[in-house]
Amino acid sequence: MHVSLRDARPADLAEITDIYADSVLNGTASYELSPPDELEMAERFAAIIAKGYPYIVAEDAEGTLVGYAYVSAFRTRPAYRWLVEDSIYLARSARGKGIGKALLAELLRRATELGFRQMVAVIGGASPASIALHQALGFELSGTLKGTGFKHGRWLDTVLMQIALGDGTASEPDDQIYPGTLYAV
Ligand SMILES: CC(C)(COP(=O)(O)OP(=O)(O)OC[C@H]1O[C@@H](n2cnc3c(N)ncnc32)[C@H](O)[C@@H]1OP(=O)(O)O)[C@@H](O)C(=O)NCCC(=O)NCCS
Repeated sequence: MHVSLRDARPADLAEITDIYADSVLNGTASYELSPPDELEMAERFAAIIAKGYPYIVAEDAEGTLVGYAYVSAFRTRPAYRWLVEDSIYLARSARGKGIGKALLAELLRRATELGFRQMVAVIGGASPASIALHQALGFELSGTLKGTGFKHGRWLDTVLMQIALGDGTASEPDDQIYPGTLYAV
């Protein structure tokens, strides 16, 4: 499947809401139990964009949106601000075709360019597909948190994986790029 990647726009939110809703209802990547509506997804989108984080989509040759991905704060206390968490969701029919890899590679490129130093994957339900995806792009296993959630009648583990971006910890970050004041405590 040929896809192109581009910045997400407000007009994409109906399709993004549908893709996420399927994962919420039928999967364990997200620990939400009821799918948020389009208005809520629009508020989340605006909050992510407002902080300058990348939010991108993949669309097929017909212009149908088949997946989306973004980075956001792992935690909001300001010393964490050089660490971002990635999120990637694909329509069912688009999985297993390299699109997750393309989206994650683009997030890595953009987050590095923006000056972030680490990216973490918080893999709900220890999904083998998500672990394989992150491994394929160089993430290393940080550890497993056991029994972190209960969904679809079973306890879920969360796998944490991490990759360094740019200089990683080899130099101090440039405070001018990402002032701590941008972040809520
Ligand atoms: C997880 C997800 C984003 C992966 O994207 P994808 O496009 O299906 O994955 P890709 O086709 O790019 O494959 C990436 C790697 O993972 C492997 N992989 C993909 N699906 C797999 C599966 N079900 N089991 C094992 N490995 C799998 C591929 O072989 C590939 O490895 P390689 O490059 O070494 O060959 C996608 O399946 C998805 O949206 N799942 C539901 C939501 C979700 O779990 N999101 C992640 C939140 S952390």
